[in-house]
Amino acid sequence: MPSFRVETPQRCYYATVERGIIAQAAEHLPSKAGKIFVVSTADVWRHQGGRLAGALESVEYERLFLPGGEDQKRLAPLEELAEEVVRRGGDRSSVVVAFGGGIVNDMGGFLAAIFMRGIGVVQIPTTLLGQVDAAIGGKTGVNLEAGKNLVGAFHQPLAVLIDPATLDTLPEREYRAGLWEIVKAGIIREAGLFQFLGEHSAAVLARDPTAVDRIIADSVRMKAEVVSADEREGDLRRILNFGHTFGHALEAETGYTRFLHGEAVAFGMRAAVRLGQNAGRTGARDCADILAMLDRYGPIPSCADIPAENLLARLVHDKKTLRGQVHFVLPVRVGETAVVSGVEEDLVLEAIRFALA
Ligand SMILES: NC(=O)c1ccc[n+]([C@@H]2O[C@H](COP(=O)([O-])OP(=O)(O)OC[C@H]3O[C@@H](n4cnc5c(N)ncnc54)[C@H](O)[C@@H]3O)[C@@H](O)[C@H]2O)c1
Ligand SMILES: [Zn+2]
Repeated sequence: MPSFRVETPQRCYYATVERGIIAQAAEHLPSKAGKIFVVSTADVWRHQGGRLAGALESVEYERLFLPGGEDQKRLAPLEELAEEVVRRGGDRSSVVVAFGGGIVNDMGGFLAAIFMRGIGVVQIPTTLLGQVDAAIGGKTGVNLEAGKNLVGAFHQPLAVLIDPATLDTLPEREYRAGLWEIVKAGIIREAGLFQFLGEHSAAVLARDPTAVDRIIADSVRMKAEVVSADEREGDLRRILNFGHTFGHALEAETGYTRFLHGEAVAFGMRAAVRLGQNAGRTGARDCADILAMLDRYGPIPSCADIPAENLLARLVHDKKTLRGQVHFVLPVRVGETAVVSGVEEDLVLEAIRFALA
């Protein structure tokens, strides 16, 4: 079973990828833990709750539901949740089990970060995006009216249990959106994964278990390595934002309702590759290979009606900009990126136009 060590100053833990691992969830709870609080949503529980309920038969736990949905990833439901935890006997020894997609991973993790100044959390992601990204690395938080993830904390989990079997019920659009983050992993640091994605796209898209388990494991290993080298977003962790600067602008411009995160990232990767070529950073052959890969896992939903100038204006507001300079993560070649700033605006605009077309 592939198990990847995440080593940060805050905590060391394992992210384990194994079909059926949820059945062993109880073994991953600390022996001295007090009451266990499973945080999920009604939707996730309806699809996958049976697996976790079976695994926790011998454990005293309470099950709490969040409303779900990006517009409910806010402080208000989190406060309600914390009040409910107290009512049901939660204390400093309690442990949260966050069971769901990225929203549950972020909110359950944030609850654990702030409840009684910090309790343990075990992450059990049930979407592909959660499994390869959101559940690993300790970033937790909620949205403000002013923007996404503007309130949060770094809170590393006790363990991350990744069970690809939970993806059986994941809607096709959500599955494909998660695949984009895997394509991203290949482009930024995993040339072998990139090659596999090219050669086995039919198996990947058909959710063939061998192919799915392999690409998840590669992506988790990559994220575990990057987070271990750089917990708090210095230069290395920044490569994980490949495609995200443009992607966030698209999400914000369309009110976070029209595109799934992964779809916006796919758009952003197209723009970033083009910008890499425009700025003379990415070779023609690698550009063509990356664009062909994005097509293979597409199509990206149409965004041709969105004005390129609006997205350009929003780039400046991205929270990852430092001192007014937009930093772009651009591919150097498949498996290698560079963080570049001071790129001329007309090159950026052309790249946006290209990606929107
Ligand atoms: N902390 C991080 O490092 C990080 C990284 C990437 C994304 N995120 C966050 O993750 C969130 C998006 O996560 P997401 O894409 O997983 O969305 P999500 O959590 O909303 O889940 C998507 C949908 O799938 C359903 N679902 C979940 N698991 C299912 C299953 N196994 N079967 C059937 N349906 C299932 C959910 O109920 C939901 O309707 C965003 O808020 C984003 O900011 C965080
Ligand atoms: Zn992302």
